Amino acid sequence: MAYNLLQGKKGIIFGALDERSIAWKTALRCHEEGAQIVLSNAPVAMRMGEINKLAEAVNAPVIGADATSMEDLKKLFEGAMTHFGGGIDFVLHSIGMSLNVRKGKHYTEIDYAWNQKTLDISSMSLHRVLRTAWDLDAMNEWGSVVALTYIAAQRVFPDYNEMADAKSLLESVARSFGYHYAKRKKVRVNTISQSPTVTTAGSGVKGFDGFINYAEKMSPMGNATGDQCADYCVTMFSDLTRMVTMQNLFHDGGFSFTGVTPDVIEAMGK
Ligand SMILES: NC(=O)c1ccc[n+]([C@@H]2O[C@H](COP(=O)([O-])OP(=O)(O)OC[C@H]3O[C@@H](n4cnc5c(N)ncnc54)[C@H](O)[C@@H]3O)[C@@H](O)[C@H]2O)c1
Repeated sequence: MAYNLLQGKKGIIFGALDERSIAWKTALRCHEEGAQIVLSNAPVAMRMGEINKLAEAVNAPVIGADATSMEDLKKLFEGAMTHFGGGIDFVLHSIGMSLNVRKGKHYTEIDYAWNQKTLDISSMSLHRVLRTAWDLDAMNEWGSVVALTYIAAQRVFPDYNEMADAKSLLESVARSFGYHYAKRKKVRVNTISQSPTVTTAGSGVKGFDGFINYAEKMSPMGNATGDQCADYCVTMFSDLTRMVTMQNLFHDGGFSFTGVTPDVIEAMGK
């Protein structure tokens, strides 16, 4: 059901790789709610071609950008402003990648060059995106920026590996830049901490099936789906959440504040 929550709003959505991507689902929901969108992803991801299907469905141009390249980001924001004929109201940062996870390195043995790349792609890219918007004065007043994160930033999930550190940094950047953007232009910056979700990035975590089943049993409402995460992003981009900023918002069916559940106790008793 659509509520016209984003009528007249214009946004950039990073990170739609395929139909399972949280960014893909969010783009569809934003479109349904009346937003105009520009899609972006890393050039290498765009070569897979899937994003063009989404672009057609939401009537959006695709402007490629490696989120670690200031030059690419500048071209993207300038291109988006030209397309919209003005400023930007919302941005979804849905970007994550761990080189050490991909290469099977244990946390205690990470390669530091790969680690730097991981932090640049998964965390500092949010700073780069915000900085680009800041320098170009691209965001409209009361704009909203959301980045996606995971609870491994607060609690140890051993197989989440270096991405735990990446998410901690991401959440810190959202708070720190959020302060400055609130002062300058009432732009809010938040992170949404999503339940484990079956996507390309999600499935990269070792033992993902066990992980997702455990979270399902540990959440009084069960895991939040990608579609539900898209709904939450829509509310964060709408005018109904204007005073929410610098927050890490758990979207996890209650997982983050649950100590144990009968389902988990039963599984342990077996
Ligand atoms: N899936 C989960 O379980 C889960 C849970 C919590 C948070 N998240 C976060 O949600 C976000 C989206 O992930 P997803 O689960 O939809 O998976 P996904 O694999 O569909 O999306 C990750 C995206 O990051 C993009 N990307 C990688 N390197 C990039 C670069 N250099 N420049 C620009 N884009 C780049 C990829 O092309 C891809 O589109 C990530 O930040 C992820 O950590 C996922």
